[in-house]
Amino acid sequence: MLREPDQHGWTRQVFSEPYRSSRDLVAAKMRRCGLEVHTDPAGNIVGVLRGSSPGAPALITGSHTDTVTGGGRFDGIVGVMGALELVRQLRENDITLTRDLIVVDFLGEESNDWGLSCLGSRSLAGELTAADLERRDGQGQRLGDRYDTFGLDPSAAISARWLRNTPLHSYVELHVEQGPVLERHETQIGVVTAIAGIERVLAMFLGRPDHAGTRPMDDRRDAMVAAARAVLAVQRIGCGAPLHGVATTTRLANGMASPNVVPGEVQMRAEFRSIDTEWLSLAKQQVVTDIVDEARSEGVDVEFDWTTDNEIVHSAPQIQDLAATSAEQSGLSWKAVPSGATHDAVHLARLCPMGMIFVPSRAGRSHCPDEWTDFADIAAGVQVLSATITALDAADSVSSA
Ligand code: GLV
Ligand code: MN
Ligand code: MN
Repeated sequence: MLREPDQHGWTRQVFSEPYRSSRDLVAAKMRRCGLEVHTDPAGNIVGVLRGSSPGAPALITGSHTDTVTGGGRFDGIVGVMGALELVRQLRENDITLTRDLIVVDFLGEESNDWGLSCLGSRSLAGELTAADLERRDGQGQRLGDRYDTFGLDPSAAISARWLRNTPLHSYVELHVEQGPVLERHETQIGVVTAIAGIERVLAMFLGRPDHAGTRPMDDRRDAMVAAARAVLAVQRIGCGAPLHGVATTTRLANGMASPNVVPGEVQMRAEFRSIDTEWLSLAKQQVVTDIVDEARSEGVDVEFDWTTDNEIVHSAPQIQDLAATSAEQSGLSWKAVPSGATHDAVHLARLCPMGMIFVPSRAGRSHCPDEWTDFADIAAGVQVLSATITALDAADSVSSA
């Protein structure tokens, strides 16, 4: 079972049975490609292709095979399968790299019910904490307990050091663009310049519950109305962003919803993304000011709880150059693009220089069943990944961004 049978589209969330099956399949495919395979303490599936120079700083590539609910077939999967195709081609052509090539199917990249993305790569970078394991999902289940029931040791996940203790040369990830830019520019390859930072907010609107039939309209403290105005404030700020800034309200919940009660308590979740640090910080300040002002006019108080899901991360210029040159040498058009989506590469960038290669997404659709990338475009992406990895294998060292 590689996806939830009762869900629309492709649903393979972290810790689910379809996810377990998909990881078994990935491990089997890695073995068939001749990789040495194991599940690491962070819960990642890791395959190693040995190079000719033991101890030389290793190359890493990979991505993820979990999906959002009702997702598609390409987000993440292209980076894992593309890496395996690269290994297959190297072996078919009797090419031995100097460096070890580590291929990883990272555990749970998508944001989950515990509100945490990139579990496996976060853990390898030393960014998964004991406090994270205490997070609870909507049913009250601890994240740490979910690791346990999936057969993973949560304490090993927060102290997984093997990659931090392995000399690393660089990380390159192939991924679908998930947006419309490449298709609009009729371009085959995206060379990623930076990955957007993500600031998330939980806003709690505290009004006053009252009888919905008797409380006059001019004497209400309606938390839902204040939250609705906040949704528009978030949208307004996103629309005012320079290129690449976005703002989205992702959830509204009435704490004590009753059909006949003026809402007294509403929770809202929203996120802001940009590759511009200054805009992100201004957007945070502006949204708080606007929401508080508008809530006040409804007689509603607001409390905010901000978390940084990830900071802005830049790709290593040298890897960008190598990917662009690889595209040109293969006769492929390319464009420098920022990534609005987050990726395991954000966390790998803590460990070594990082680069990403994008291939076009039809109509820019992603995180939905309509997600599609033409196979010819995926093949072109694998070709660029392969040429970039081969060039990095020969490069002495690469500086981070
Ligand atoms: C993951 O796909 C994200 O960008 O949230
Ligand atoms: Mn992805
Ligand atoms: Mn995704």
